[in-house]
Amino acid sequence: MTENQNSSRFEKDAGNYRFCDARAVGQLEPCTIVIFGASGDLTSRKLLPALFRMYCAGGLPHPVTVVGCARSRMDNDKFRRYLKESAKQETDFDDHLWQEFAAHLHYFALNYDETSFRQLADHLRELDIVTGTGGNRLFHLAVPPSLYGTIGGLLGGAGLNRENIEGSGWARIVVEKPFGRDLVSAVQLDESLRRHFHEKQIFRIDHYLAKDTVQNVLMLRFANAVFEPLWNRNFIDHVGIIAAESLGIGKRAGYYEESGVIRDMFQNHMLQLLALTAMEPPSQFEAERVRDEKVKVLRSIRPFSLKPDDNLVLGQYGEGIVDGNAVTGYRREEGVDPQSLTPTFALMRLFVDNWRWKGVPFYLVSGKRLKSKVTSIVIQFREVPHTLFQNILAARIIANRLELWIYPEEGIRLSFQAKDPGPRLCLQTRTMDFNYRDNFAGPGFDPYAKMLLDAMAGNQMLFWRQDAVEASWELLTPILHDCEVCRGRATLLHPYPAGSWGPEGASAWVERIIGSGAEK
Ligand code: BG6
Repeated sequence: MTENQNSSRFEKDAGNYRFCDARAVGQLEPCTIVIFGASGDLTSRKLLPALFRMYCAGGLPHPVTVVGCARSRMDNDKFRRYLKESAKQETDFDDHLWQEFAAHLHYFALNYDETSFRQLADHLRELDIVTGTGGNRLFHLAVPPSLYGTIGGLLGGAGLNRENIEGSGWARIVVEKPFGRDLVSAVQLDESLRRHFHEKQIFRIDHYLAKDTVQNVLMLRFANAVFEPLWNRNFIDHVGIIAAESLGIGKRAGYYEESGVIRDMFQNHMLQLLALTAMEPPSQFEAERVRDEKVKVLRSIRPFSLKPDDNLVLGQYGEGIVDGNAVTGYRREEGVDPQSLTPTFALMRLFVDNWRWKGVPFYLVSGKRLKSKVTSIVIQFREVPHTLFQNILAARIIANRLELWIYPEEGIRLSFQAKDPGPRLCLQTRTMDFNYRDNFAGPGFDPYAKMLLDAMAGNQMLFWRQDAVEASWELLTPILHDCEVCRGRATLLHPYPAGSWGPEGASAWVERIIGSGAEK
């Protein structure tokens, strides 16, 4: 059964009711996607495979053109051959579909100067005429952030920032994190983009927000009546948010040495997960209203310093065993300073000082080379106020717990106490599980594809707004400053063996937060 109600689609499928946003279906305008940094890793590993998958699934606008730009000299054929190799590795490759898709791929070699960008503007106009893409352009900056300002300025100089003037359609610019390395640089970066683009034209990517399970946090909270009344300091003891990784830094030493775990994971993904968990319900599910509520959370986080330092534990991995393989310590990774004080692990205790959350600790944990890759949000409820079973059972009853699994399992687990069958009175913790894998057929949707689709649709919901970027840096810049310039800096950094759950003192916390997730 299908029926349209306002803009939603209502379906009954095998006894389950389903509402879908009808606007999402087939309404993308034709456009040209211009990728700067087209010969780089991000383009070949993430962007192009995502576009190809979308093409195969019929999800790209029609017509669509992809123009790769970089300094390397190559022609369209060489560019297509180069991308074909990574598409083979990253996707369920189909040669016939690739041939069709590759016809939409173009390459434009440029220098980051005015002449090149004037030529690019001419080239894009010609392509518009040939392909019928209507002057709509998405500029994706898959380049180091040091080039964002330059490219923004050159696009502006060539008139490529203009919207709906002289045959142009819309113009949007997509940037990847890091959005600066502290508050000052984040503001400067934004100013350099805002000289030529309005906020509504800028799309700041955080791929965590595009994960289905992360988007589902708001659905779980606000599309169900049973959770929200309990979602506060009266019923919740603490919240744990973990993004543990078993991988090391791979070949990214140059970036990671400058960044460390706080800039790499906390300023962006971890604080977004916290904001989704803690935010108030917006009056409507609409980009600005949702982002308004999230920024309010970030502004309510209590500023903290390293003293007392139990609000922050920093660590760095040494050698160890991960998945049965011996791995090297951080300081011996290729390109890393052998004396490096860059943290690869952090446990942060944050408080959101508002009516709903006053006094509830939020434990945020992320680290490289931990025992396994686990991403989840854990809501630990308080114990029952009075244990009426205390005469026959233990004095304490294990409290309820709600786990939102993001990786490796994608789903939800609610734990509760239940009587064991039989004549003896025994209580045991049982769980109710929902797993996306068991309930939905087919592969999950690639977060990069979702981000690209939303940027093409002009939907800002899953992108960072600048005020939130600044609020997050306002919180973290003093801590980073303390960590990086304080005397005795080395003593702040606790070593942990690769393959463990982090430094001593933190690992017990991590295991507590992960709970059942640790078994995965
Ligand atoms: C990136 C970080 O943003 O997120 C990486 O730069 C990290 O260091 C990655 O490995 C984790 O993403 P995911 O989706 O694999 O959890």
